[in-house]
Amino acid sequence: MITRRDAFHLGLGTLVGVSVSSSKLLSQIVVQTQDTSLPRTFPAVTNTSLAEKAEAKGLYYGSAVLRHHLISDSHYADHIIQTCKMIVPEWELKWSAGACPLRPTPHTFDFTSADAVALFASNHKLLLRGHTLVWHLSLPNWFSETVNSQNAEAYLNNHIQTVVEHYAGRMHSWDVVNEAIEPQDGLSEGLRKTPWLKFLGADYIKLAFQAAAEADPKALLVYNDYGLEYDTPKHDAKRAAVLKLLERLKTQGVPIHAFGMQSHLDGSETHLNLKKLRQFLADVASLGLKILVTELDVIDKNLSADITVRDHMVAAAYEDYLNVVLDEPAVIAVLTWGLSDRYTWLSEFEPRPDGLPVRPLPLDANLNRKLAWNAMARAFDNAPNRG
Ligand code: G3I
Repeated sequence: MITRRDAFHLGLGTLVGVSVSSSKLLSQIVVQTQDTSLPRTFPAVTNTSLAEKAEAKGLYYGSAVLRHHLISDSHYADHIIQTCKMIVPEWELKWSAGACPLRPTPHTFDFTSADAVALFASNHKLLLRGHTLVWHLSLPNWFSETVNSQNAEAYLNNHIQTVVEHYAGRMHSWDVVNEAIEPQDGLSEGLRKTPWLKFLGADYIKLAFQAAAEADPKALLVYNDYGLEYDTPKHDAKRAAVLKLLERLKTQGVPIHAFGMQSHLDGSETHLNLKKLRQFLADVASLGLKILVTELDVIDKNLSADITVRDHMVAAAYEDYLNVVLDEPAVIAVLTWGLSDRYTWLSEFEPRPDGLPVRPLPLDANLNRKLAWNAMARAFDNAPNRG
């Protein structure tokens, strides 16, 4: 049975009444809202790809990828090629990368995995993003035993210089620093407690951008973060702290060019204040920064088990969010954190309590288009043209 809460999640505004035929026939939901009596559906649109629809409005659409999926799953790889204009390695450009780490030891680099993704992009004329040069997670085991206050700056500069120079001229943009803000850590300016902050102080962020700019003057340099989308005290605090950080960096003349808004949405979150979100984007843009939606997906762990209902709610979350975000001309790209439910980090990191497979992305696990695809396509079609 669909609850009023479920129906609300369809992003239908304030409900005045819900008449539901059956949870199996969601398309029969006729929701009377204050603004319109039209039912909300997500009809399939023309056959053009999301990349083409985005490009028609001067935007890029892309997806995160993992090297082993591109190599082992040619059907999936074909969909990446057909659907995207840009890709970003989900893992291979972090300091530590599983069986084939980018940083095997304190003094060595192994570009094998990341080069494979870069070659895939080049072979298929896809733009490439780099993620991420400075983060507090996915650091190799040797890091905590080796890096300290005396040598941290040297390790930071050497890593950024070596990695960014290796891809100089081939990288559309770099997430130079990732997730440096966490107001709940209680530090000044809402900075997150990280090894980098501990060893170098707040200037680590400036140092990172300066090193990246020197290594590749062509790449767009991005500060990337999450937890900024909703009308909650936690997100309010984070938006305020992120904005202050961006203002500080710009005032200091730091070579930062863009803000990356990860956008891991929660399909069950009802506190989406479109006005507040739009104002935040305008405030970031007013600093002269471009904006990228860098890791878009919709967590569905708390949504109905009924796939028909769940897919509608996920699609509504995509469309409601993108309609606001794409209204900001400074937004230049939208990347989902994966393209298909077949491969999503959420299966491991945000599994459903009922154990059902999660369905956060535009393609289902069989690589068929979902309502989320249609919702994204419609949002791109309705977006103002960047010219
Ligand atoms: O590839 C190795 C494999 O060789 C090894 O055998 C296996 C077992 O250790 O690990 C594999 O690496 C995993 C990697 O994902 C690739 O699948 C790591 O264990 C696992 O920790 C890693 O998780 C990634 C996570 O960041 C931590 O780096 C997720 O895929 C990735 O989606 C997630 O992405 C983050 C963004 O970077 C920042 N924003 C939040 C986002 C979600 O947490």
